[in-house]
Amino acid sequence: MGINSVLALLFCSTVFLANSLHLVSAQPFDYPTANLSTSWINSPSAPHSVQFTDGSLVRATLLRGSFGPKFACGFYCNGKCDSYLFAVFIVQTNSGSGIVQPNIGFPQVVWAANRNHPVKINATLQLSSDGNLVLRDADGSVAWSTNTGGKSVAGLNLTESGNLVLFNKRRAVVWQSFDHPTDALVPGQKLVAAQRLTASVSKTNWAEAGLYSLVVNNKGLFAYIQSNPPQAYYERTVSGSETSKTPSYIKLLNGSLALYIHSAEPSEPSETIPIPQASSAQYTKLESDGHLRVYEWQSGWKVVADLLTGFYGECAYPLVCGKYSICSNGQCSCPGSSSTGATYFRQLIEKHPDLGCTEITPLSCSASKNQKLFHVPDVTYFTFNSSISNTNVESCKQACLRDCSCKAAVFRYGSDPSNGECFLPKEVFSLMDNDMEKTHYNSSAFLKVQNPRRVK
Ligand SMILES: *[C@@H]1O[C@H](CO)[C@@H](O)[C@H](O)[C@H]1NC(C)=O
Ligand SMILES: *[C@@H]1O[C@H](CO)[C@@H](O)[C@H](O)[C@H]1NC(C)=O
Ligand SMILES: *[C@@H]1O[C@H](CO)[C@@H](O)[C@H](O)[C@H]1NC(C)=O
Ligand SMILES: *[C@@H]1O[C@H](CO)[C@@H](O)[C@H](O)[C@H]1NC(C)=O
Ligand SMILES: *[C@@H]1O[C@H](CO)[C@@H](O)[C@H](O)[C@H]1NC(C)=O
Ligand SMILES: *[C@@H]1O[C@H](CO)[C@@H](O)[C@H](O)[C@H]1NC(C)=O
Repeated sequence: MGINSVLALLFCSTVFLANSLHLVSAQPFDYPTANLSTSWINSPSAPHSVQFTDGSLVRATLLRGSFGPKFACGFYCNGKCDSYLFAVFIVQTNSGSGIVQPNIGFPQVVWAANRNHPVKINATLQLSSDGNLVLRDADGSVAWSTNTGGKSVAGLNLTESGNLVLFNKRRAVVWQSFDHPTDALVPGQKLVAAQRLTASVSKTNWAEAGLYSLVVNNKGLFAYIQSNPPQAYYERTVSGSETSKTPSYIKLLNGSLALYIHSAEPSEPSETIPIPQASSAQYTKLESDGHLRVYEWQSGWKVVADLLTGFYGECAYPLVCGKYSICSNGQCSCPGSSSTGATYFRQLIEKHPDLGCTEITPLSCSASKNQKLFHVPDVTYFTFNSSISNTNVESCKQACLRDCSCKAAVFRYGSDPSNGECFLPKEVFSLMDNDMEKTHYNSSAFLKVQNPRRVK
């Protein structure tokens, strides 16, 4: 045994002793499977209940493995703990499969059954005799189910890789959590075309906000902020043509996020996004700020990669500064006053420039005569889906003024201003300073604003 493992053992057992009060019982073995007609209650007296110093609490129903970061599933809460998810999470375990290190080994949720319907104390999870896995809230209402009743399910298995599987007598998969990704991927898990990762509202409000999503299709990998139409803030397009009949997918591997856009295993991926090689457990999560971060256990969970942050840095995230605000070296500011002295924007919440700006007079289509475009020079936008090509700034502006749903005209050109590109977003998120050394184009935004009606 190496000195590191001895130290780790000593450390774990010390933490284990120091926190044994938090442990209802330390199991000698793991408990990774369940048979039909088994149920679990989300009760404070349930076994394998562990409270953590970050305010979270788990009640594990299944746990696979021992000693180190391992997957478990069960009830999870964080904060006030008046509602719980049924989730798959990574916890630290000792050699007896007991959940330990409540001071640093905080549970990392990688899948959840019911983000939009958290349940209360006394909710039950039941693997019924007909093979359906059902989560019922304390009042008996069904919060979630796998709809696998009558499908010859023989049992439930939490695999080594964190996949929750309902299997039949031939051990074939009838239902698996890997087919229903939420906001995270674990090593070996795929995100297949037509699936999506959807970020939660916040770290403590797990409801599916739908604000940010990550999707893969036969063109590549894309991250969107919700809008009508959605605006892409990350695009990794993969050229080439379909050679594989299977749908495109991405897969989290040790050392990369592999993009199988025009290929499928065992072929090489079309492209890879590098990730530091895993020295321990890793997973990736699309978070409530739109970042896709990779976390690794290194005696504490550390961010080891931030996969969607590119060339333009933090400022290229759609809401880094809130709506209508300009991001410049990570600083946020509202579009300034015009040459005539009129001001059209103010901070949404004073002293919180990162929460964005709001129009002083809201836009009104019925008073479009009183609308104009407010020039914000030398800014660009995180996405650019050209509405008109080979155009000039005047035509671009007119096109926006004519269209009630247009909220801004973003115009950019290289050396010839009469041959530029025009983008007409229907919703304005954060703008960013145009760093011409990086972008190699001139760019301006013209924000649609409303002049207040004059009182005669
Ligand atoms: C499931 O049933 C089998 C056969 O009856 C038994 O050997 C096994 O211990 C049961 N597993 C659990 C987790 O109860
Ligand atoms: C949960 O159920 C137990 C037993 O039926 C009951 O005593 C307890 O008050 C319930 N707890 C809550 C929070 O409803
Ligand atoms: C449960 O998952 C493990 C892999 O983690 C696998 O070895 C085992 O065969 C599975 N059991 C069943 C019954 O599918
Ligand atoms: C660009 O706009 C077109 C038409 O509105 C749309 O179909 C396409 O998905 C958009 N592309 C991106 C990357 O948002
Ligand atoms: C990842 O790959 C590296 C290099 O092959 C290896 O040393 C490491 O153990 C792997 N990590 C995991 C978690 O398997
Ligand atoms: C910006 O526009 C001017 C002319 O309007 C041109 O000379 C210059 O090269 C452009 N800069 C870039 C980076 O395209």
